Amino acid sequence: MADVVVKPQVGGGGGIVIDDDWPGYSLDLFSYPAHYSGDLDCVVVPHGVIMDRTERLARNIMDDLGDHDIVVLCVLKGGYQFCVDLVDKIKALSRNSNRTLPMRVHFIRLKSYLNDQSTEDLHIVGAEDLSFLAGKAIVGTGKTMKALLKHVESFSPKLVKVAGLLVKRVPHNSTCLPDYVGFEIPDRFVVGYALDYNEYFRDLNHICVISERGKTKYKI
Ligand code: HPA
Ligand code: MG
Repeated sequence: MADVVVKPQVGGGGGIVIDDDWPGYSLDLFSYPAHYSGDLDCVVVPHGVIMDRTERLARNIMDDLGDHDIVVLCVLKGGYQFCVDLVDKIKALSRNSNRTLPMRVHFIRLKSYLNDQSTEDLHIVGAEDLSFLAGKAIVGTGKTMKALLKHVESFSPKLVKVAGLLVKRVPHNSTCLPDYVGFEIPDRFVVGYALDYNEYFRDLNHICVISERGKTKYKI
């Protein structure tokens, strides 16, 4: 394994670890849209497992932040499905608790990938005025968090927590880790569950590895 910086924490703090040599599940074991047949190599995280893990993350978040006025900042586009499902799970938990504070949801759009390559410049597209964040507890969902965190922190929120469904084990990475992590995965380009390759594959429920054929077919 290459020089790995991201380390799973004891007790699952770093998320469910998917090893580099894990071949994934065969696509034949699951259903997925026929228009993507041949475009994927394997399923890395099936949709049901994503949902179960998200439910647990919601519980951890409620245990930590349940008494705060929570403002969720969803990072579009790749974070939308995780955000929707996480917020749903938090809502379900608060219905069954004494929590009385409303939770608000805001959206921000980031773009940094072309094909499967990260581009240098991170664009914050369609950013709202985030000054409402002052003094609130935020759970951001999505990726490319480092630059965003800097931006968010300039509004002096009381507490900032980051929830990320996936953390990739990338070499020489100095990124800050999310406080809540779903899965720690190998450094491969994955799609599905709102993660795209040139806007395709967002309509796939499972998190999958794209095939070379898929990359070529949807390259721009
Ligand atoms: N898939 C889709 N979008 C991404 C990825 C990925 O693996 N990494 C960063 N943006
Ligand atoms: Mg993308």
